[in-house]
Amino acid sequence: MPGWGPFDLTGKNAVVTGGAMGIGYGIASRLAEAGANVLIVDLDGEAAEEAARKLAEQPGKVRAARADVARDDAGEAIVEGCVETFGSIDILVNNAGIYPQVPMLQMTTELFDKVYRINLRGLAFCSKAAAARMIVQGRGGKIVNIASIDAIHPSMVGLAAYDASKGGVLMFTRNFALEVAPYQIHVNAIAPGGIATEGSSRPLAGSGMTAEQIKEMTAAFARQIPMGRMGVPDDIAKVAVFLASSAADYMTGEIVVVDGGRLLM
Ligand SMILES: NC(=O)c1ccc[n+]([C@@H]2O[C@H](COP(=O)([O-])OP(=O)(O)OC[C@H]3O[C@@H](n4cnc5c(N)ncnc54)[C@H](O)[C@@H]3O)[C@@H](O)[C@H]2O)c1
Repeated sequence: MPGWGPFDLTGKNAVVTGGAMGIGYGIASRLAEAGANVLIVDLDGEAAEEAARKLAEQPGKVRAARADVARDDAGEAIVEGCVETFGSIDILVNNAGIYPQVPMLQMTTELFDKVYRINLRGLAFCSKAAAARMIVQGRGGKIVNIASIDAIHPSMVGLAAYDASKGGVLMFTRNFALEVAPYQIHVNAIAPGGIATEGSSRPLAGSGMTAEQIKEMTAAFARQIPMGRMGVPDDIAKVAVFLASSAADYMTGEIVVVDGGRLLM
């Protein structure tokens, strides 16, 4: 698309995990708008197809596939899917993640393992598969990991397993960036603050609170944010385009906090 300058992604092929809704959908939308072909992969295959249909008019092509990043073979299968669909992989956005709110004193080993398998192990092995392919292609690549401000500072009780997994994402990003820098593969992370998404609104919807109580709780949350509002997926998506583009060619192993100033409080 004319006018995108160093942010132009025309001719690049990308994967966004968990791209059917929320932050992932926002990222898929902006990558395709910047010209990239995007494969949306998601546990919810139907929602992924629906998301691809909604983005059919973007300059980049958008396709969908079902995948569970927690599976041992997910990384290989996802990368193969992108190569079969578009011919190569240049950008991987590791966005798929879950954030069950369960205090550690009530945590089971099963749930703890599930959080780790999706949020950290899945991200690590998707990164491994993508980087291996990028090395064969010989023209570098960009990996963007969606971490959280909880990788830096805990936001609430009940997220000990989640915070540990996202802290892991932060250090994985740094170490893997070091490992693959010689191949011109950039590995960076974004740490979102509170973003209004399908996933983040689910606990409120199922809480038994009235619409008025939910509105008041959301407003109280927004008052703790210097910018005075919750984030929206597009706040993260625009930074993801930056990190996936040549504008970020001298950045690697970095974590970019996008939280409306929340961590300044
Ligand atoms: N929403 C926030 O406030 C917030 C804040 C910080 C970080 N994050 C991170 O951003 C990412 C996206 O969050 P969101 O709020 O958009 O979530 P969401 O629940 O709205 O959407 C997540 C998407 O990931 C998919 N998914 C879940 N498990 C999967 C799996 N095993 N394999 C493939 N796809 C899977 C879901 O089907 C869904 O489409 C997560 O990594 C989350 O931890 C979110």
